[in-house]
Amino acid sequence: MSRRLKVAIVGLGIGGQHAEAYAKLPDLFEIAAVCDLDDARLEEAARRFGAPHRLKDYAELLRLDGLDIVDICTPPHAHFGLIASALAAGKHVVCEKPLVGSLADVDRLAVLERESSGRIMPIFQYRFGNGLQRLKYLSDRGLVGTPYLTTIETAWFRGADYYATQWRGKWATEMGGVCLTQAIHSHDMLSYINGPIRRLFARVATRVNKIEVEDCAAVSVEMENGSLATLSATLGSATQISRLRFAFSDVTAESNLDPYRPSRDPWTFVSIWPDKQALIDVALKDFKPQREFFEGQFERMHEALTKGGDLPVTLADARASLELITAIYHSARTGEAVDFPIGPDHPLYRGWLPADHCKA
Ligand SMILES: NC(=O)c1ccc[n+]([C@@H]2O[C@H](COP(=O)([O-])OP(=O)(O)OC[C@H]3O[C@@H](n4cnc5c(N)ncnc54)[C@H](O)[C@@H]3O)[C@@H](O)[C@H]2O)c1
Repeated sequence: MSRRLKVAIVGLGIGGQHAEAYAKLPDLFEIAAVCDLDDARLEEAARRFGAPHRLKDYAELLRLDGLDIVDICTPPHAHFGLIASALAAGKHVVCEKPLVGSLADVDRLAVLERESSGRIMPIFQYRFGNGLQRLKYLSDRGLVGTPYLTTIETAWFRGADYYATQWRGKWATEMGGVCLTQAIHSHDMLSYINGPIRRLFARVATRVNKIEVEDCAAVSVEMENGSLATLSATLGSATQISRLRFAFSDVTAESNLDPYRPSRDPWTFVSIWPDKQALIDVALKDFKPQREFFEGQFERMHEALTKGGDLPVTLADARASLELITAIYHSARTGEAVDFPIGPDHPLYRGWLPADHCKA
């Protein structure tokens, strides 16, 4: 019998979806507390999920007895402080994307995590769609061959109603635009499959909404494994799609076009070579679909926290994602290519916010 872990959810927008996922895993998790500054959200979540504690005060929440995990779903600018306090209290931390606002802050969190009995798991729930997991399964078994080219398209629509929420669209509070907020999930899948980036060149633009941050981006990427990638993202597409296409010597893998569920089935896996196609088809027959998205990530997290082993998403994964963000903004502003890895000597290591937008 596995140990039930007690979770507190902080921030009840998308946090409500986290709560639904925990509630679907009742043998693994118990929602012990919900926390929000907004009374209506707090009451509704406490009632819906039967949480024994409902709190507005985060410091009080950290003093609750027996809490194992603090799951942070507040706007991004609040993440670092809340994570640091939870680690200091010895709690495990789940935190929404973008984890924090700079590579310096991720590196500080790595130090704080080492000093704490708690561990940090950033959210990248779309990794755990069974279509993408099939590609990971083939790749882990050496069945994809030489990587050639990855194409990732994020063509969504967001209008004025979306940006009516006060913290969105501003550098100080949202901390970035389509690259940071929407396309970050699909872009994470690039390195999830193909490893680290070596170099990139980017252009960004704000053309769809009257906001500070970018809503269009075009990025050209060279991977350490020698393959190339293009990333395109817009919030001005009337037809909304996401598409991931991974071309390898032995197989081309392509996602479905659902804008918000591209990593789930169905995917296609096509080889030019009949013998390779046969191997791929046989291997995929053995693939066992698992729980997806938040449920899939939380179930795997429970296993790591109770039995040991790597968390399904790590601080290193969040660092890679924020390194990509840092490089995109630097390249777009300077017109130059950016080499990886990005360390403390880089001008945007301490944050990518433009100098005149650093205050909320
Ligand atoms: N993984 C995903 O697919 C996904 C989707 C949407 C949003 N997000 C991320 O989730 C985070 C929240 O986004 P959202 O859309 O839910 O925002 P939201 O504005 O709808 O909700 C955030 C909530 O946090 C509360 N809050 C703010 N500061 C707080 C504090 N100090 N203590 C307690 N509560 C606090 C607010 O009152 C609000 O109810 C962001 O980082 C966003 O990028 C992730």
